[in-house]
Amino acid sequence: MTTTVFHCSDLHFGHPAVPEQYEAMEALIQDQRFDVVAISGDLSQRARSGEFQRARAFIRHAERVSKVICIPGNHDVQWWKSPFGLREGDIYGTYRRYISQDLEPVLRVPGATFAGLNTSHGVVRQSLTWNLRDISIIGIVRRSQVERLRQVFTESPPEDVRVVVMHHNPVKGELSQRHGLKHTPRVLGALAEMRVDLVLCGHDHQDAIHYIEHTKKGTVISTAGTVSNRMRGGRPSSVNSISITQENIEVSTLVWNAASGGFVSGSVKCFAR
Ligand SMILES: [Fe+2]
Ligand SMILES: [Fe+2]
Repeated sequence: MTTTVFHCSDLHFGHPAVPEQYEAMEALIQDQRFDVVAISGDLSQRARSGEFQRARAFIRHAERVSKVICIPGNHDVQWWKSPFGLREGDIYGTYRRYISQDLEPVLRVPGATFAGLNTSHGVVRQSLTWNLRDISIIGIVRRSQVERLRQVFTESPPEDVRVVVMHHNPVKGELSQRHGLKHTPRVLGALAEMRVDLVLCGHDHQDAIHYIEHTKKGTVISTAGTVSNRMRGGRPSSVNSISITQENIEVSTLVWNAASGGFVSGSVKCFAR
């Protein structure tokens, strides 16, 4: 049994979005009919209603042929509505209205369980670092979320491939030289302990495919680039196409090609499960 996944991230509907690129993505999804379309956050640019409306249309279109799983990114959170929890305000209000009430959805398809993990918590004490640039941007995972994730996978068939969909990159970006996520060794260790096979993330705006070794179980990390004009280092936009079997996980990067107006094959990496 093979599960096919279209993994895109950081669509940033709003002024960074490039119509030719998201239209090509929509055509590709309709054509290839992936089992799952995973969108790892930053659907919007400023968490505005109009941006989420466009993202909603994108999701509905994909749902005609695929199951869709989506989680919020830091751009999708209206952190100013409740900085440090000081005010009563739903920082996810607009995301919930247009995208989903569920910030951590679980998607079960034959042979695989996909679990959403929300790493975008707005401005909270736990996300503070010595770098002021991190405010509202860096991702965190709370202990209660790890416990919930463990519960989700405990309820899955033992042979299921375990996939986590989250926004912030747990591996340092090659160009940014930054992790999007705080406390990455603890988070990656917890995921390995629960035998997570694959992490789908974004945020870094540079595509990457990694394998994290662990004594319990190694984890494949698919970091999708952005489909917008905000790709790091002037590189072209990209998405990842993934094929999962009981034996292997193969991640292929599809790179935007302006001349043909479509996505073309880039690097491919295959990992034994
Ligand atoms: Fe982003
Ligand atoms: Fe982000």
